[in-house]
Amino acid sequence: MKKSTLIIAGLSFVLTGCATMYSAAELDKMAKDAVEKSFSERGIAKKERINQDAINLACTSAELSKTPLSGEATRKLEAAEYQAIKYPADGKFLGDWKVGERVAQGGGGSTYSDKAGSPNGGNCYNCHQISKEEISHGTLGPSLYNYGKLRGNSEAVVKYTWGKIYNAKAFNACTNMPRFGHQGILTEGQMKDLMALLLDPASPVNK
Ligand code: HEC
Repeated sequence: MKKSTLIIAGLSFVLTGCATMYSAAELDKMAKDAVEKSFSERGIAKKERINQDAINLACTSAELSKTPLSGEATRKLEAAEYQAIKYPADGKFLGDWKVGERVAQGGGGSTYSDKAGSPNGGNCYNCHQISKEEISHGTLGPSLYNYGKLRGNSEAVVKYTWGKIYNAKAFNACTNMPRFGHQGILTEGQMKDLMALLLDPASPVNK
């Protein structure tokens, strides 16, 4: 046998050997331990960031096991998120669209070198088209161009839009959209400014 054939045979033995030695649960635990060990806390970046809450855990497990969540489980998870939505204390939902545009553009914050309490960006353009002026945008989420023009600003639309920005999981349990209010990524004021960007008739989004 040639030397290279021997090496390949040896390698495939080792690889198949590994695959049968650990159960999926054991491999999950090993991966979690490795992540935990390699995460070094620094500044505001604390270790608790790697812990998933119940709804994230349910979505991750469903994805890994390729077993979609049942309709009933999904409704229960979404209802719990929906109930935790906090609406603006003063009942005013719309701030300043110009500030909202800056929040939507901003992608900074939450890193170990940021100070506690310093404002974060919303990163909205990473996933959405919003105003026509910005041509560099992601497409993971739907286009929000003309959002207010198309939907108007009835109480139902206003409450839904706030809820979606506050906690998108209240409407779609396993969405990729971050939970800006629920996780304290954005302040109430920043979310009001984003609401104005989407709903104010004077915003470039609705021209
Ligand atoms: C990581 C990607 C991602 C980011 C970042 C993101 N979104 Fe989304 N967004 C989505 C996806 C995906 C949807 C589609 C529905 C769903 O899965 O929840 C969505 C839906 C929405 C909707 C509802 C649209 C509709 O037609 O009903 C609004 C409003 C919205 N996003 C606003 C925002 C705002 C404002 C920001 C920034 C603060 C933002 N999104 C950041 C991915 C994202």
